[in-house]
Amino acid sequence: MNGRRVLLGVTGGIAAYKAAALASRLVQAGAILDVVMTRDARRFVGAATFAALSRRPVHTSLWERTAEIPHIALARESDVVAIVPATANTIAKFALGLADDLLSNVVLATRAPLVIAPAMNTAMLEHAATRAHLETLRARGATIVEPGIGFLAEREHGAGRLADEDVLLAAIEGVLQRTRDLVGERVLITAGPTREALDPVRFLSNAATGTQGIELAREALARGAAVDLVLGPTSLEPPAGANTVRVATAREMDAAVRERARDATIAIATAAVADWRPATTHAHKVKKSDEAAPLELERNPDILAGLGAAKDGLFLVGFAAETEAFEVNARAKLRRKQLDAIAVNDVGDQRGFGAGPNALVLLWGADGRKDLGRGSKRELAARLWDAILELKRAGSA
Ligand code: CTP
Repeated sequence: MNGRRVLLGVTGGIAAYKAAALASRLVQAGAILDVVMTRDARRFVGAATFAALSRRPVHTSLWERTAEIPHIALARESDVVAIVPATANTIAKFALGLADDLLSNVVLATRAPLVIAPAMNTAMLEHAATRAHLETLRARGATIVEPGIGFLAEREHGAGRLADEDVLLAAIEGVLQRTRDLVGERVLITAGPTREALDPVRFLSNAATGTQGIELAREALARGAAVDLVLGPTSLEPPAGANTVRVATAREMDAAVRERARDATIAIATAAVADWRPATTHAHKVKKSDEAAPLELERNPDILAGLGAAKDGLFLVGFAAETEAFEVNARAKLRRKQLDAIAVNDVGDQRGFGAGPNALVLLWGADGRKDLGRGSKRELAARLWDAILELKRAGSA
């Protein structure tokens, strides 16, 4: 953790005293530690404890050193924000985006990854509201360090006890490592649908929104990669920090990809490219009376296969959207397009489109297979990057 900036947020639960031991371990591991305490946390432990351990001032209020705008400075400087312990109230505030004290402002303002270690009474932990808020935070990419089962302050035995110090330390270390594991990589991602015009008002396209590709781009940036995102028509905003090229047609996407492929070390094709385009694009709106059947089609280039045929050390990952015989079809694509790996999702009944949860299986080689499970597209993006890096390292070892 040498020199990495860890922000420890301590909230008002009895387990707050354990955060002091964790703070000491973080400092010993080389972290530069900033501590933010809520008002209720200070009812359990004094700020002086954390100031002595971190050898830095402890932050307790939005209204201290206002000229420095402390929440924005802390939010920007931190490599990871770890909330230990996190009370039910804090978790609810984060999930809803409330910002009524220094810590909740920092959490809302930061782009650093969040680690959340809940600790509370069993009934509060199991309450549907708490479960839903934790699920919301997890879907947004937070790492939830599940509490253990043990002796609680109420002198009961149950779930809700703050996770062990070693587990917390490992979670923070793991997240910090992930923030750097794509440094030096140049990632090329295609995303979204393509749009093939028949006339000025009609086009051929599909239900893709670009969500999965945008989440892969966001995650790659967070892990330190340089990212080129070639994005078809979508109303979604690409992540700030990516070099985004907006395209409409498959041929435009193909040209943009070819131009950027030379510099890329990893390419991921998530775009739902229209395989066909109207043979003629009419300059004026086609009238019912004009022709019997105005729609004659011709093939579009296969962008991914083009990358596969020309790849020179590029690590190439495709996506396969299938509605039947998923893995057999996807393995055929893996071979045909000369890919290093392919992520398969089941798109029957419109599954897999848009912002909802998805499920992916990654396939490689003759029989390599890893089930990435179900989750939000943001969670799956993180798991897919973990799997891609593991494969890439195994290949180059
Ligand atoms: N792809 C591409 N260019 C195309 C078609 C597909 O780059 N013209 C990429 C997609 O981005 C995806 C992968 O190829 O990564 C698989 O796309 P898919 O449409 O599922 O498969 P196809 O190759 O089109 O095969 P089929 O139509 O037989 O399912």
